[in-house]
Amino acid sequence: MKRDLLDISQLSVDEAWGLLELSARLKRERREGNSHRWLEGATLAMIFEKPSLRTRVTFETGMFQLGGHAVYLTPGDIQLGEREPVSDVAANLSRWVDCIMARTFTHVSIESLAANSTVPVINALSDLFHPCQVLADCFTLSELREDLSRLRIVFVGDGNNMSHSWMNAAALLGLDFTLVCPPGYEGDSGVLSRARACGKGRIEVTNDLAQGTRGADVIYTDVWTSMGQEDEAEKRRRAFAPYQVTRKTMDNAAPGALFMHCLPAHRGEEVSAEVIDGSNSIVLEQSENRLHLQKAVIAWLLQAEEARF
Ligand code: CP
Ligand code: NVA
Repeated sequence: MKRDLLDISQLSVDEAWGLLELSARLKRERREGNSHRWLEGATLAMIFEKPSLRTRVTFETGMFQLGGHAVYLTPGDIQLGEREPVSDVAANLSRWVDCIMARTFTHVSIESLAANSTVPVINALSDLFHPCQVLADCFTLSELREDLSRLRIVFVGDGNNMSHSWMNAAALLGLDFTLVCPPGYEGDSGVLSRARACGKGRIEVTNDLAQGTRGADVIYTDVWTSMGQEDEAEKRRRAFAPYQVTRKTMDNAAPGALFMHCLPAHRGEEVSAEVIDGSNSIVLEQSENRLHLQKAVIAWLLQAEEARF
């Protein structure tokens, strides 16, 4: 039966660790000069309803490095759900390509693509989740710190797709995760309660910046206004202004705390330039690791013999 990756909650613990280990292997072996042409002749369709730098380049480059090919479909090309129903797009693509990757506005579109395709579907960001980013972030942290479950990971910002995927990662891998946000921006209560119901990890939500970030090992942030929320930008700027990650925030965290951001970043909004450009920032490591992690995801979903774990 085909598998999809719509969010981290769909993975078993062994599968999540298997993907992180495969990412590490792909990264190491590529640096040693090995190539991994495991998907010769395979094609990935990439549906984008929103802009992208990292996701588009890492999926396309990753597919090329695996010996396959990627087809980039812009919002104007297929007009998902407008020119024809999402289910027809999924059924047609399934006749031509081996895998579908989609970045959509509503998560329902990704679910519909998955339900109506016979090939694996990967969520490359929806309004609800961003699993590839958070899995790549877990991989990045696992490279730099010995034991993920001993880290206090604090996300300062919106209860958005990024923090939802972190909640699911915390529930699956038993992580200590806190969302620090302005009142009213705590995120989807269903995602939070389902993650907490897993009984693993520790998932906290607070509006108190000083208390929430005290002693943190990782401070993570993201834009205040996600793609598709542009109409709310002014209101959000006012609500989030007290939550900017600054030197003071980092000083309140544990000594040597790491700074993370999925990017794109707005210096002077969610983070000061001195923090994101400072020595504890690992944003480019995160960005690089999108490539290795997504190669692992594609090879695993397409059941490449060499990617078995
Ligand atoms: N972090 C991330 O997904 O970046 P892009 O929006 O540039 O793809
Ligand atoms: N929350 C952001 C993440 C961008 C990678 C957005 O959805 O725009």
